Amino acid sequence: HQPSFSRMEHEEVKVRRGPRSGLPVVVAIHSRALGPAAGGIRLRRYPDWRDGLADALRLSEAMTDKNAAAGLDFGGGKTVIALGPGTELTPSLREAALLDVGELIESFGGTYFGGPDVGTGPDDMVVVRRSTSRVFCLPPEHGGTGSSSIPTALGVFAALRAGARHVFGSAELTGRTVVISGLGSVGALVAQHVAAAGARVVVSDVDPAKRASGYEWVDPEKALRTPADIVVPAAVGGVLSAELVPELSAPLIVGPANNQLTSETVADDLAARGIVWVPDFIASAGGAVYTLLREVEGLPHEEATARVEAIGTTVSEVLASARDKETTPLREARARVAARLA
Ligand code: PHE
Repeated sequence: HQPSFSRMEHEEVKVRRGPRSGLPVVVAIHSRALGPAAGGIRLRRYPDWRDGLADALRLSEAMTDKNAAAGLDFGGGKTVIALGPGTELTPSLREAALLDVGELIESFGGTYFGGPDVGTGPDDMVVVRRSTSRVFCLPPEHGGTGSSSIPTALGVFAALRAGARHVFGSAELTGRTVVISGLGSVGALVAQHVAAAGARVVVSDVDPAKRASGYEWVDPEKALRTPADIVVPAAVGGVLSAELVPELSAPLIVGPANNQLTSETVADDLAARGIVWVPDFIASAGGAVYTLLREVEGLPHEEATARVEAIGTTVSEVLASARDKETTPLREARARVAARLA
């Protein structure tokens, strides 16, 4: 059975073997309908470089949804540096790859802006900056707004409380069990927020060293199925599948991982089981919102932070109108994106 030819949705995709690093670097621009594309630079190990390309295609599409739903005048793009299974990432290889990425970003002439993502941080952006000025989130001493993980986690926390209000009738987290799957730079900050709000926090990570965080621990393959009030996917995507849905027990799923669903129909499966899933591209928008408003629009910290907190309002609206219209939060969120892109 041959899959039918699918129309190319992306505006532009550049794949290059980095001249300095020899590593495959990909910039995928999904859409610039609302403005220049923006999205992070992911540095990750893949079984094959083509898997990195596929990830860039999916992640850049998610950025179109994220930026549009958040009301930003930016399109969707993403960069992937694909590390092979056996390649050792030495500091010099990392530097070479980041310079390669900067050069590729520069070739878009200001129609794509990069920033940190899984596997990269503000210090890496200083290196990228040597090849291009089109990069965000440099450390404050280099003139940027620093880690996007902080506002991303703040937005997730606002989304989580709004979700709790919708599902449980109260945003109060004392006495609630919250499972956080993935204790990376965003997941660890979400854990702090949720713990400070009085919840019982259970965490998991593929890296067993993260057990030292001191939180209650669950093995990563069991994390999403753990009996809890709220489950927070905070690692990589593709974790919510049709096979998994019958085994889930938490009534609310909300987290920052991009592309959590293995397919769009999983949103229907979740709704059919009465599980409220907050669309990932809404819950995870805090980093993009804060960074772009601060570094491009020049808004002060307080105003940009208020816009991140407003993700809670968006979540409340999306969940309420999905309930009223007897549709899924995903369809409702997509309708918002479509309205902006129209
Ligand atoms: N990488 C993060 C994201 O995908 C934050 C980010 C967005 C950083 C846009 C820079 C630009 O949302």
